[in-house]
Amino acid sequence: MKRVNYWDYIAVEPLLKLQGGVDGDEGTVNNDELLFIVVHQVYELWFKLILRELTQARDFFRRNPVPDHLLASSVRALRRVSTILAQAVAHFELIETLTTRDFLAFRDRLIPASGFQSAQMREIEVLLGLDDRERLALGTGGSYLDALKDGDAPSPAYHRVIARLAGGPPLREVLDEWLFRTPIDGSSPGQPGDEERVLAFLHRYLDAVDREARRRLEEAAPLQAHSDEAMACLQDRYRAEVAQARAFLLAEDATEEERRRTSRIRAALIFIESYRDLPLLAWPREVVDAIVELEQRFLLFRQRHARMVERVIGRRIGTGGSSGVDYLDQTAIRYRIFRNFWAVRTFLLREAALPTMNDPETYSFRFSAASSGA
Ligand code: HEM
Repeated sequence: MKRVNYWDYIAVEPLLKLQGGVDGDEGTVNNDELLFIVVHQVYELWFKLILRELTQARDFFRRNPVPDHLLASSVRALRRVSTILAQAVAHFELIETLTTRDFLAFRDRLIPASGFQSAQMREIEVLLGLDDRERLALGTGGSYLDALKDGDAPSPAYHRVIARLAGGPPLREVLDEWLFRTPIDGSSPGQPGDEERVLAFLHRYLDAVDREARRRLEEAAPLQAHSDEAMACLQDRYRAEVAQARAFLLAEDATEEERRRTSRIRAALIFIESYRDLPLLAWPREVVDAIVELEQRFLLFRQRHARMVERVIGRRIGTGGSSGVDYLDQTAIRYRIFRNFWAVRTFLLREAALPTMNDPETYSFRFSAASSGA
């Protein structure tokens, strides 16, 4: 049997030969550029891990039904991704030890290479479910896929992303399917009367939102409304919040064909968050929270990258040809994938204000003779 050693297992020697820069010769790479290359390589390795974990989580949620124990495993995978992102973001501080002048010494040689060409970053976006229609123009005329080409020829980066696009549904889609199937008030899609029961739940919930808004307004008015005008303004604001809750939960923004499905997905999110203390909703609620945490980390990555870029190169045009910091800031605002997961938070209620639910027994642990081994 082969004797294992550290240097072969970690591939230390090949790894240390990968920092040759443009000329493939480390002798031409100064300390600043070595830092620049190493930090990018470390990021790509983190991206590799992230892709592994996300693919596994996606595959768990492709199952129908998702076995209970896989919910816990998926939360572990999602939380690991969040932890990686938290660590990765800290590496931008290392790049900030690079002064503008020192970076400019080798920057122009890199044109047109750019983070635009990080195939793994695009794979992460694709796997999470960033909608192509949401993508910003890169500023160079072509699509994000064109930026991955080598001139006009497909590159390994391009093939990687194409394979990912063809490699199964994104996490957002399978999570939506899972949410859609979530029993609400004990009722599942396909059961007789499901549509009516979900709607009844939503109306009870919206009544509770309305009651809660009135109560909050009553409490806030003496403290905040110091004039009739301020009172009218406050009333409008609370009314608008209730109207928003209604529009959101009844999916008034969705097309006619999609409305019922979208509304059920949003109802499931509200239901899981609201009644999370019931045994069978505890893990689903952790999944929902892990997704929000993950996307928050991802947004922080984008924002932190933009601030680092602004510090190092100001607001000049990027080597990839975009407007630079402006483009990056816009991605941090616009690229939201799990929008429903965030939106429900505005409409969640305190426990004491929740409507009583029907059929809580559906969400208790059940032991069949087979599963208890009896
Ligand atoms: C001095 C260091 C850096 C500067 C000045 C910089 C600058 C930029 C700029 C201006 C863009 C916009 C595209 C363009 O026009 O080129 C960009 C995109 C990007 N950069 Fe950086 N970057 C730096 C370091 C890094 C590092 C360490 C990473 C780690 C992976 C990274 C990842 C990315 C990614 C993934 C994109 C594409 C963003 C998107 O399209 O959503 N960058 N970078």
